[in-house]
This record gives sequence, C-alpha cells and structure tokens, in this order.
Amino acid sequence: MHIGVLTGGGDCPGLNAVIRAVTLALHSGCGAKVTGIERGFRGLLDHRARPLLASDVSGILAQGGTVLGSDNTCDPFHVPHDPHDPHDPTGGDRSPAALAFARSLGLDALVAIGGDGTMAIAHRFHEAGLPVVGVPKTIDNDLAHTERTFGFDSAVAVVAEALDRLATTARSHGRVMIAETMGRYAGWIALEGGVAGGADVILLPELPYSVDAVAHHCREREKRGEPTLICIAEGAHAAGQALTLRATLPGSPDPLRLGGVAHTLQQQLQPRLDSEVRATVLGHTQRGGTPTAFDRVLATRFGCHAAQLVKAGQFGRMAALQSDSCISVPLADVAGRQRKVPLDHPLVQAVRALGLCLGD
Ligand code: F6P
Repeated sequence: MHIGVLTGGGDCPGLNAVIRAVTLALHSGCGAKVTGIERGFRGLLDHRARPLLASDVSGILAQGGTVLGSDNTCDPFHVPHDPHDPHDPTGGDRSPAALAFARSLGLDALVAIGGDGTMAIAHRFHEAGLPVVGVPKTIDNDLAHTERTFGFDSAVAVVAEALDRLATTARSHGRVMIAETMGRYAGWIALEGGVAGGADVILLPELPYSVDAVAHHCREREKRGEPTLICIAEGAHAAGQALTLRATLPGSPDPLRLGGVAHTLQQQLQPRLDSEVRATVLGHTQRGGTPTAFDRVLATRFGCHAAQLVKAGQFGRMAALQSDSCISVPLADVAGRQRKVPLDHPLVQAVRALGLCLGD
C-alpha cells in the first residue's frame, strides 16, 4: 500500500505526533509506503510531496507546528480566480487536477489531519474516488462526534498560564484584565482555560453577554478591593451585537477571521468602572509550541487508530474519542459541523455554582 498524509487548516500542537504515529504504524504494521503532502490540500495542486521514512519522523513527537506545512485557505473544489496562477488562472473546481496528482504518485489512500473544514474537503475527495481516513485536529475542540481533538489541551494550558500571569499584575494595580482566547464559534478554550486560570468572568460565543451584567460583577469586586480577571472567547459578543472581525479572506473555506473582542469589551466596560481596564489577545501563542503530554498521547492514539482504519480498509471515516476509547465515525457526519458548548454542560454549571460571571 502507498498512503499519503497531509495536515490541513490552522496548525496546532500535536500534528507532528500524529504524522509520526501514522508513519511508524503504517511502516511497521503493514509495510506501507508513506508520502507526505506538503501545505495541506494545496500540495495536491502544487505537486509538493515527499517520502516519509521512519528516519524522517524521528525526534518530531514533541515539536510544535507541522513538518509538512499546512494551509487554511485552499479548497481544491473552490479555487478562487487568480490571474497569477500558473496552473489555471480561471480557478473553480480543481479537484480533478488534485486527484490526477494523487494517482500519479500511486496513492491508494490519504490520511487527512485537520479540523471541520479539512474534514469537509476530505469527505469530498473520498466521494470523488480517493479513499480517505480523517484525524481530528484543532485547538478549538469543536469537531462533531469526538469528545476531544488533540491541540486543545495544549491551548488550554497556554490560556491557564497567561491568566496566572495576568492575575498577579491585575492584583498589583487593581485592574480589570481581559484575556481573549481563540475558539471561533465554540467556547471550549475560554471555558476550560478560564476555569483552569481562575477567571472571575468567562464569556462564551454560545451565551451572548450583557455589558451591564459584566460591569456589575466587576463593580462588586471593585467594592471589595479585588481585581477582575476576564476570559473571553474571540467569538463572544454582547447580546444583539455583531462578532468582532479582524479580517475577511475571500476564497478561504472559512473567510471570517475573528479577533479583537477583548478590546471591544474594554471599551464597553471602561466608562462603567473606576478601575483601569486592559486587554490582551492571546492569539497564536495558543497554537504554537510543544504539545502537552496529554496531547502527545492523544495524537499518538489517533495516529495509530488512523493506520488501523487504513489497514482494515475502513475509509471515509474519522478517528474519534468517545468514552476515552478510540473509535471511528463517518466523515459525512463530521464534515462542516461544529460541536459547541452546551449551556447545561457540567463545567458551565460548575462556573455558576462558584458564583462566577458568565455574562448573563
Ligand atoms: O480553528 C483554529 C483557529 O486557531 C481558530 O481558533 C482561529 O479563529 C483561527 O484558527 C485563526 O486562523 P488564522 O491563523 O488563519 O488567523
């Protein structure tokens, strides 16, 4: 067998651990040849691929990023018009060219490591005749039918450490400190990171906040001489108000780039409070760096499971974690879906039980 491996979408800690596990498990389990496709699905259009031997994945377990490179703007089924594109300036559906390249390499199947956008594209390739197995990656932890994605634990650790640091300076100056996390339309990072870092206010995309309610919570703390630590997800917004956008990338599978809501909230709160309000956007620090031990193990388990699915000929499926067991689910059930924080989630209930503020 000859199997291609690619990493699509935004990078995250643990991608290299999956690449290593898939490569080693396919080599030793069934003597398969493994080829890395570079820069995600873009590599299938740009003809960028290289063999992956056991020696190529040696020592990469704990490395952040992805040795294959990634891309979160290329969907071969919808390539934007580009007059400078040497292959096809008209754009449109370039999947036949991508499939032809995969065939020219002699690939029997592809392991696609990525988030919901990557799984949606992977599903289309599977339906178009290239057998695919998916592996769920994203710091956002928002993929359907898996309780965990690798990368999430590492991101939560970064948020917790950042909040620990913001807490001490908040106390020194009696300030309200706002930390903005990633997570797009799901609040998992803000919720777990906020709890782990002892935030007093946690604001999620799933629960539009009332500026008055947040200000009231901060004022009560001011009266007691206490600083306030706020953890807000980038996709959170005040009730009836729009998302805070950093940019739009036309032609990208997900054209909206969120970011800056910490500063929106700062402007909303400052006129209502005596304390100084400061905002910090954690941004890509949450995606970079070495994976936690938990993510290294989860990524390795997912990689091994993906290799088993390939060996068993179970294509069109994504490795997933349910009740701490690796199982697989149809790509069709995952593609384009998002798993948001249910408002009756036990951790949301715990936040309420502690008397912390969720902005409602
Ligand atoms: O989906 C992962 C993620 O890190 C989101 O949390 C974030 O909104 C987005 O990617 C950022 O993407 P980019 O690196 O393209 O700005």
